[in-house]
Amino acid sequence: MPYRNVVVGTDGSESAEGAVRHAAELARAFGARLTVVTAFQKHPEETAKLQAVAPEDIRWMLTDAVSAEEKANRGRALAKALGLTDVKVRVGDGDPAEQLIEAAEDTGADLIVVGSKGMTGAKRFLLGSVPNRVSHHAPCDVIIVHTV
Ligand SMILES: Nc1ncnc2c1ncn2[C@@H]1O[C@H](COP(=O)(O)OP(=O)(O)O)[C@@H](O)[C@H]1O
Ligand SMILES: [Mg+2]
Repeated sequence: MPYRNVVVGTDGSESAEGAVRHAAELARAFGARLTVVTAFQKHPEETAKLQAVAPEDIRWMLTDAVSAEEKANRGRALAKALGLTDVKVRVGDGDPAEQLIEAAEDTGADLIVVGSKGMTGAKRFLLGSVPNRVSHHAPCDVIIVHTV
């Protein structure tokens, strides 16, 4: 059964962008639509406060609505560069796994694509919590791209 409607999650990390490229290639092969999703933290004032005191090199980890939009847009640009025309972006506040599942439900997705790691993944050899949670609660197929 071919996929018609794909949702992919990115936190802007190189690893997640590997998942975006994988999703884009799949969507192109199946002639499917793609939605790039980035979740951000629920409390903008707290994120702003943390950003003010966080060391510069980890500030990018604190995702507010604006940087979420940028990350999702970068994912869309990657997908478009791979020849995909029908690419939407969606940002939402809250838990990334919940946002991905909600996006899949709302768009009638038949596939969710995530990376095995995210922004903190380079230091660990573990499956990220997002793919773990998505795999347990997804309303459709899930591909966990083995990103490095
Ligand atoms: N904020 C987010 N919005 C959308 N998708 C995300 C977000 N964070 C992580 N993901 C997805 O989950 C994958 C694994 O990330 P994550 O579980 O956060 O691992 P880590 O614990 O290493 O950061 C990413 O490659 C990406 O596909
Ligand atoms: Mg993470």
